[in-house]
Amino acid sequence: MAKWLENAIFYEIYPQSFNDTNGDGIGDFQGIIEKLDYIKETGFNAIWMNPCFDSPFGDAGYDVRDYKKAAARYGTNDDLKRLFDECHKRGMHILLDLVPGHTSVEHEWFKKSMLPESNEYTDRYIWTSNIWEQPEGLNCIRGISDRDGSAAVNFFSSQPALNYGYAEPKYAYQQKPTDPGPMATRAAIKDVMKFWLDMGCDGFRVDMAGSLVKCDPEYKETIKLWQDITGYLKSEYPEAAMVSEWGEPQYSLQGGFDMDFLLHFGPEGYNSMFRSAEPFFSKRGKGTPAIFAEQYNGYHEKATTGGGLICIPSGNHDMDRLARGRDEDELKCCFAFLLTMPGAPFVYYGDEIGLRYVEGLVSVEGGYNRTGSRSPMQWDSTANDGFSTADKSQLYIKQDDAPDRPTVEKQMLDEKSLYNEIKNLIKLRNENSALHNLSAFEFVSSDGYPLVYKRSSDKQTVYVFINPSDKAVTVNADYAKGGKAIYTLGENGSVKTDTVTVPASGAIFVEV
Ligand code: NOJ
Repeated sequence: MAKWLENAIFYEIYPQSFNDTNGDGIGDFQGIIEKLDYIKETGFNAIWMNPCFDSPFGDAGYDVRDYKKAAARYGTNDDLKRLFDECHKRGMHILLDLVPGHTSVEHEWFKKSMLPESNEYTDRYIWTSNIWEQPEGLNCIRGISDRDGSAAVNFFSSQPALNYGYAEPKYAYQQKPTDPGPMATRAAIKDVMKFWLDMGCDGFRVDMAGSLVKCDPEYKETIKLWQDITGYLKSEYPEAAMVSEWGEPQYSLQGGFDMDFLLHFGPEGYNSMFRSAEPFFSKRGKGTPAIFAEQYNGYHEKATTGGGLICIPSGNHDMDRLARGRDEDELKCCFAFLLTMPGAPFVYYGDEIGLRYVEGLVSVEGGYNRTGSRSPMQWDSTANDGFSTADKSQLYIKQDDAPDRPTVEKQMLDEKSLYNEIKNLIKLRNENSALHNLSAFEFVSSDGYPLVYKRSSDKQTVYVFINPSDKAVTVNADYAKGGKAIYTLGENGSVKTDTVTVPASGAIFVEV
């Protein structure tokens, strides 16, 4: 695993919505460069940037038209290289978003693949043997070219699936992962990775990493495929990091990924904490951390033995904003948890100030219900909250216009703000070795309020008590006897001889 991941704390940037410096209503690379000091000052030392490549933007850039070219609206390849360099100058790292499962229908590969004459790209995508045959279990694109076949799609219908083969081919059109077509696709993706790593990026967040080999329920062939790719990467670029969008670390880490995200799709553990009807993180106090804990235990054991990390993101461009339906106290409580768990924390831009989900928007660039979580960052009290000098009507997505909406400026000035709480929590994480990314972890109590876990390094042990409910709770905690609180969130928390009182909507960290 890349050494820098041991203390990495990530910030996810959706480039469209971060900072616009040329007044066109959409963010750009220069805008990110200008905010690197802000990101660093808050405590983040690593960035994941969503796709920034040439694209018709039918799925906000996850429909790539040219893997090796920056989208003009963000800048040039040289500007992107400058962003890498500016990150490195500040001791920061940056991951690009690799979309290996599909391209846009407008990609040159797909255009050539649509030709009826056999050529280098004929097998780059999954095509059935004739137009009347549909790919098993997948949607398809059909009848838009003279090629006699249907092309499988991976996500939206403008995103044809690249061909990495089938775990157990059943029909004539299904190829083995090691057949020449799938092997050529694999080589082409390695070449894309090499291109950006040579230019200075520090690795990739990999889109839909579990989706590449088709009909592979146990992911056996998908794991082999990734072992090949990550093996190649580790030998050529040992400091490159690979983070998977997979959501099942028991598989992804075997594939050689350094980290996997827990996500809103897949096993329900993550949602039961943040995004179910009665999540654990709510003042209502009707949730439970039990489902999460059971799943996490399994993952954590695998991660520890396999040397990988599990990331619990605050949110991302696909989920509801963490702030949707939560007040500032509840958000602080979420971050007391997110910033004390093992693995590298990932904070979605704007979550550090409680940026809200913008309700009632018409879909932008394939966002649909995700559009409200992708609105432009709110920096200060100037026009468009400092995001852009464009006319309001030209903004990429409409901003939150509530009079009490948060901005970075307001939050920085308020000592008690969410922003300052997060900044303190990151500082605390860095200063206490028990809370570091790789330090040991164990649940102490995970069946109700409070959630209690133990973090330890060879130098220090810290018990973390988290109580999102609106009632203070006192628990017997003889294990924390003689300990001292190194952090308290909320009013009237205390550590007595055998008991610990965790404030309402609060947390307490006890060093023993
Ligand atoms: C997952 C990405 O996070 C999402 O935004 C995208 O629409 C799909 N993959 C398809 O690439």
